[in-house]
Amino acid sequence: MVSDEILRRRTFAIISHPDAGKTTLTEKLLLFGGAISTAGAVKNNKINKSATSDFLEIEKQRGISVATSVMGFEYAGHKVNILDTPGHRDFAEDTYRTLSAVDSVILVVDCVKGVEEQTRKLMQVCRMRNTPVIIFINKLDREGRDPFELLDELEQELDIHVRPLSWPIGMGSTFKGVYNIYDKELRLFTVNKTKLAKDVVAVGDISSPIIDNTVGATFAAQLRDNVAFLEEYYEGFDLDLYREGYLAPVFFGSASNNFGVGELLDTFIKIAPSPTPTEASQREVLPEEEAFSGFIFKIHANLDPNHRDRIAFCRICSGKFERNKLYYHTRLDKKIRFSSPTSFMANEKSLLEEAWPGDVVGLYDTGSFKIGDTLTEGEVLQYKGIPSFAPEIFREVVNKDPFKTKQLEKGIRQLTDEGVAQLFVQQPGSRKIIGTVGELQFDVIKFRLLQEYGASCDLYSLNYYKACWITTEDKDLLARFVSLKGSHIAYDKDNNPVFFAETAWVLRSVQESYPTLKFHLTSDFK
Ligand code: G4P
Repeated sequence: MVSDEILRRRTFAIISHPDAGKTTLTEKLLLFGGAISTAGAVKNNKINKSATSDFLEIEKQRGISVATSVMGFEYAGHKVNILDTPGHRDFAEDTYRTLSAVDSVILVVDCVKGVEEQTRKLMQVCRMRNTPVIIFINKLDREGRDPFELLDELEQELDIHVRPLSWPIGMGSTFKGVYNIYDKELRLFTVNKTKLAKDVVAVGDISSPIIDNTVGATFAAQLRDNVAFLEEYYEGFDLDLYREGYLAPVFFGSASNNFGVGELLDTFIKIAPSPTPTEASQREVLPEEEAFSGFIFKIHANLDPNHRDRIAFCRICSGKFERNKLYYHTRLDKKIRFSSPTSFMANEKSLLEEAWPGDVVGLYDTGSFKIGDTLTEGEVLQYKGIPSFAPEIFREVVNKDPFKTKQLEKGIRQLTDEGVAQLFVQQPGSRKIIGTVGELQFDVIKFRLLQEYGASCDLYSLNYYKACWITTEDKDLLARFVSLKGSHIAYDKDNNPVFFAETAWVLRSVQESYPTLKFHLTSDFK
């Protein structure tokens, strides 16, 4: 039973640089999957990209993102779980954490822009975990770059081998459709924003005259040349290499025109992995193990300030999750029972009785969870998840209302537990420094501290380049370094020392002066 349920699950995320078409593709996959019947349901799921401090927008985003955090639906006998990732680049850390909870990803690339900054960063995270990647090159209805040039760029910049499974015929105003190399079919393009048209012509073979008759002799000849070149210079598609994260199959299409989406979904179902083993500090855990285990990868505070509870999102890694059963919270060493866990099907939340590996369960929480916490049936396990990345923007928190000191402390602790930002404390004086990767987080923090905890504070800019974790075997040297650089040292939430470097040059020079100290840009040294 467990293994049947595992085999039919596909849990993945769609990632892209903002504007490449992630939201559109998500929506179209839901339409194809029959999970929603009208467009527009997911569309608003993002902050206006130019927003820097529009609190209403932030709140709207938070509201919508609870509903669309996980979009589950049934398709062709499979249970598909799409885990949403925030589109705004300032929330990249949330995306990185979500990537710890998926078994594969679909990467959307804009055919006009090619590989962009966020594409590179997100793929780095995928490469760290060898996450299998399918690439969808989008917006073929626009005059984009040469497909071979795009493939070269993907290989070089993303450090992955690619293998096209379809090939575009024309582009922009002359875009005719795609040729599916494996099914030997032509899919003809029509501008169509609403219908799920399936204009497919089986051609039998690439030399078939049907191709000439359908797209014209010039395009047919070009297609034959291109496919011949592909077959000669690109490795064939190999399922194992894809599953190892080494080879990415590539599709071409136009999400806003529903084009190439059905084909993508059908192939995805066939090749994407079902839930894979998860690495814990103690051992690797297999999904088919009988005992339940899972970890928290996201925490969402309640929007209603009168209800302080939060929703913790738990990815199930092994066994069966059951409502009302006692589970073991390994960090707190205590047993917890969940009476109203929720499941997420498309845009609807509902009470669930049981869930399986690959599923995400929403657990109501009154403050016992932090990102990365592990639940089991009793075994002491700690899942590894995604490391924190060295923040790049820093603010000192200064309390504005001495009567609300406790509320401020609690608010900051809870917000950092949720992963909104990283907190560092400097001694003497318990000076609090908040580090993030994006400016927008500071607006979120100030706004939520006031709204939810009644605490107000000023956030003063600090001019640091990076905060790096320090480790060494030589404890005496570390103690000397910490006392010498006192004003540049703070401690993270687990009391690990962190060095604040003002410039890249300062960081390089301390590295040279202290070769036995290790300065880490991610927190996965533990
Ligand atoms: P994101 O989530 O990755 O940020 O991208 P999103 O889906 O919001 O798409 C960004 C813009 O690109 C949207 O236009 C969307 O309509 C457009 N788009 C998506 N797929 C295609 C495609 O296949 N072809 C073309 N030509 N455009 C596409 P917008 O103007 O920002 O929004 P809207 O007013 O169109 O909704």
